[in-house]
Amino acid sequence: MTLSLEPGQPMADDEFRNIRDSIYSHCGIYFDDDSKYLLEKRLARRLSALNLNNYREYYHFLKYDRNKDQEMMDIMDVLTTNETYFFRESFQLAAFTDEIIPELMSVKSGRGDRTLRIWSAGCSTGEEPYTIAMLLKDIPGLRGWKIEIIGTDISQRVLQHARRGVYTKASFRVTEDSYIKRFFYECDGGLKVTDDIREMVTISHLNLFDKTRMMMLGKMDLIFCRNVIIYFDLAAKKRVVEDFHRSLNDGGFLLLGHSESLMNVTTLFTLRHFKNDMIYQKPERAALGGGP
Ligand SMILES: C[S@@+](CC[C@H](N)C(=O)[O-])C[C@H]1O[C@@H](n2cnc3c(N)ncnc32)[C@H](O)[C@@H]1O
Repeated sequence: MTLSLEPGQPMADDEFRNIRDSIYSHCGIYFDDDSKYLLEKRLARRLSALNLNNYREYYHFLKYDRNKDQEMMDIMDVLTTNETYFFRESFQLAAFTDEIIPELMSVKSGRGDRTLRIWSAGCSTGEEPYTIAMLLKDIPGLRGWKIEIIGTDISQRVLQHARRGVYTKASFRVTEDSYIKRFFYECDGGLKVTDDIREMVTISHLNLFDKTRMMMLGKMDLIFCRNVIIYFDLAAKKRVVEDFHRSLNDGGFLLLGHSESLMNVTTLFTLRHFKNDMIYQKPERAALGGGP
């Protein structure tokens, strides 16, 4: 018999541990023991939507049902924290435009290479990759360069938003008017990013725990992964950051959020002191066990 229960079913401790471990091994997001209520609240609707009686049944669904992969994909939309806005962390962005990009341009053009590949990993609704595109537009020396900016995220809901490129007030909390005038126009529901900026950015789905897809993205000069690994435990951080190391060209840069550090995570990167900020760099000709 199937009981029809309202959302708000209590989650037993063992159910919590099983479900949280499944989520962790799928994507690295770790709900600690204090987060049981949070997980229960975020998943409550799934019980009624799937007509399940309790979280034990839900765990079995996640583990054995033929739709388990789809279910795991879908719940990423409610389990992730997607807070973001344009021009977030201005000191770091100043280091990016005034110091890192000129250095990369000089090193790469010295080798006859005029391409730049930048990855915004965990891009949420797209403000970060579009900010990068706007900043690069203003660097005259980059004219004629082939620039690729790739924004990826695990949540399909935020990616849809990023592809549409329409934003409201909260996204513009630190955006200068001059950028709004140049790179946005009014449309139904807010301000839309102009086509020339949108064309510089490719938005696609990627789970940072999916090694194969990570490798398929190819080599990067710079990876922004800001305010993403804060939701991971140490082992997950290590795994993802080592994959970033593999994805970067020698001398490439990894930009984390301002409260994040690689201390006690890995020694693979060098911390470079720039005028405006401190940034992790993959050393030239770095060697990491486990291939290129
Ligand atoms: C707080 S937002 C950060 C957005 C932007 N990077 C910034 O700093 O403004 C974190 C994003 O990381 C994404 N995320 C979390 N775990 C992920 C994973 N395993 N793979 C890919 N994206 C993930 C979430 O969906 C969310 O959109």
